[in-house]
Amino acid sequence: MNGFSLMFWSSLLLVLLAVTCAEVQAQIPPPGQCNTGDDSDCCKDGQTYPVYRCSPPVSGQTRAHLTLNSFEEGGDGGGPSECDNRYHSNDTPVVALSTGWFDNRSRCLKNITIYGNGRSVEATVVDECDSTIGCDEEHDYQPPCDNDIVDASRAVWKVLGVPKDNWGWLDITWSDT
Ligand SMILES: *[C@@H]1O[C@H](CO)[C@@H](O)[C@H](O)[C@H]1NC(C)=O
Ligand SMILES: *[C@@H]1O[C@H](CO)[C@@H](O)[C@H](O)[C@H]1NC(C)=O
Repeated sequence: MNGFSLMFWSSLLLVLLAVTCAEVQAQIPPPGQCNTGDDSDCCKDGQTYPVYRCSPPVSGQTRAHLTLNSFEEGGDGGGPSECDNRYHSNDTPVVALSTGWFDNRSRCLKNITIYGNGRSVEATVVDECDSTIGCDEEHDYQPPCDNDIVDASRAVWKVLGVPKDNWGWLDITWSDT
């Protein structure tokens, strides 16, 4: 195969992958029902949100975005955690992973190591950050998760030593422990 056709076919493959990974849907939340704790986003009337069934491949240094979530009853995380049907104290290092990385529960109650802000922390996977659906009651009227999210309790942010004012969005890498 010459250079041109190699380039052609690999870009076609990339386009196909992108198309099968992302779809778009619009859902309209009932007004006034979204918990805005932890600076959570609420779905907006008439806006569309991308949904994903897959996440980037996992390596020893998988790039991701760290976000902040409550895993306690009445918090902005919605219902109990999917892996054990329980709530968790935000003082324990627990995370939810985007649907692709949650991988049909295969990482449930396993630990991952998160590297960020020059430090690392081991955290337990207890929930899914659903990339396939959102804007409904079960997801507290928040948009679907991006496909590269590690949604973490405040304990994770604390151990990484991130100043409290900056909790909510951080470039990190993670690996299976
Ligand atoms: C997810 O896991 C369940 C239970 O192990 C299995 O029945 C189901 O087929 C799996 N789904 C996918 C998409 O792999
Ligand atoms: C998993 O991580 C938690 C929280 O850091 C820790 O308490 C626990 O010992 C770890 N489990 C294993 C098997 O390493």
